[in-house]
Amino acid sequence: MDSPGALEVLAIRTGMDHKLSSLAKSQAWARELHRVFCMQGGDTDVSYAKNSEASACAISLSKPLLAEAIRSMKLFEGEASLRIADLGCATGANTVSTVEFVVHKLRERYEAECTRVPEFEAFFADLPSNDFNSLFQLLLPSFDVKKRPYFVAGVPGSFYGRLFPAGKLHLAVSLNSLHWLSRIPEAVLDRQSPAWNNGRVWIDGAKQEVVDAYAAQSEEDLDNFLLCRQSEIVEGGVLFLLMAGRPSLQRPENQLNDEDTRAKHPFTIIDQAWSDLVDEGSLHEEARDMFNIPAYMRSIEEVKRAFGKCKGFEIKSIEYLKLIEHSKRKQEDCLRDPVSYGRAKANLVQSGLRPLIEAHLGLTFTEKLFKRFERRVSEDISLLHKICFYGLIVVSAIRK
Ligand SMILES: C[S@@+](CC[C@H](N)C(=O)[O-])C[C@H]1O[C@@H](n2cnc3c(N)ncnc32)[C@H](O)[C@@H]1O
Repeated sequence: MDSPGALEVLAIRTGMDHKLSSLAKSQAWARELHRVFCMQGGDTDVSYAKNSEASACAISLSKPLLAEAIRSMKLFEGEASLRIADLGCATGANTVSTVEFVVHKLRERYEAECTRVPEFEAFFADLPSNDFNSLFQLLLPSFDVKKRPYFVAGVPGSFYGRLFPAGKLHLAVSLNSLHWLSRIPEAVLDRQSPAWNNGRVWIDGAKQEVVDAYAAQSEEDLDNFLLCRQSEIVEGGVLFLLMAGRPSLQRPENQLNDEDTRAKHPFTIIDQAWSDLVDEGSLHEEARDMFNIPAYMRSIEEVKRAFGKCKGFEIKSIEYLKLIEHSKRKQEDCLRDPVSYGRAKANLVQSGLRPLIEAHLGLTFTEKLFKRFERRVSEDISLLHKICFYGLIVVSAIRK
């Protein structure tokens, strides 16, 4: 049985009279995001494992840069084992295939250039609520080190803090994860603050104070992330980052490139779905105003600035890439079957946001919200014609 969210508890206590003035105080999860945030686990239709195709495409797009980073990496001759970390690993095919790619590429180099090939250790790191059990099950079939030539360990914790002892890692990757902030900026939840983000659940198109609060949180987070990795990665080791981002010089209030992308982006559609429920009286507006999506798309300049402050890394390459939502053929399939498209898109957004929204709204309202999302997508034919792009920032850096 799912436990009720703060809103549901309140609704039950007050006989469905949504008096939510104390909701702010009861939203402990918002300040303790690292305890509840995760992708949807398991292998249902809404699980991340079944909805990570876009992330897989992003990884494929960045792979030549990862391969190049490994090709030019210093080799650590004499080390008994090489230690690799995947920071924000989630679970599913992407998680395993990325580490296998890294181990394979490193092994190739050691075989070609050294007298001895070290053993490999892979650390899968994510927040404690991540579905590590499913991940371990995926790794299970080949616990024979000959079939899967690396040792594995799960590391629960936030990558905005220290996860490893000093000088532990030779290579760390973080893929499709760093756009998630460590917390929702407090000011955007505070009705007394000019940065209170009332009327919406995300930053795109929000007022300046909201944008500033998100940008400040993003800066603090990336600074902390880099400081921690500076301690954990050995000199000559590689840090490879792939995160959702925005083009160079694009203002932070415009998180999503062009108008079509904005109209079709899951975060803006979910914003509208919240408003639908508020407008029709199903949901108290305060329940919406006390929720914000903790995601921020950085620009290349913001990422470079953080590296500049950290001083522990030399950036070898940094690029902005654009990922198209799907092919022309898939677009035509969607137009032929908008209902299935709506469901697929609702599944996708649930795979990333459901655990968080359920912690806030409880099961009943969460179901309602995603149903509304699905309806919005499948009923708006103009939306189906639009092409949506996801912006990505890829950085490869060496620990100095
Ligand atoms: C979209 S998934 C990416 C999973 C995988 N790397 C991929 O590319 O398919 C983002 C992951 O980052 C994790 N994450 C978000 N914030 C985190 C944090 N502060 N510390 C560790 N992991 C975090 C989430 O729990 C989630 O599993």
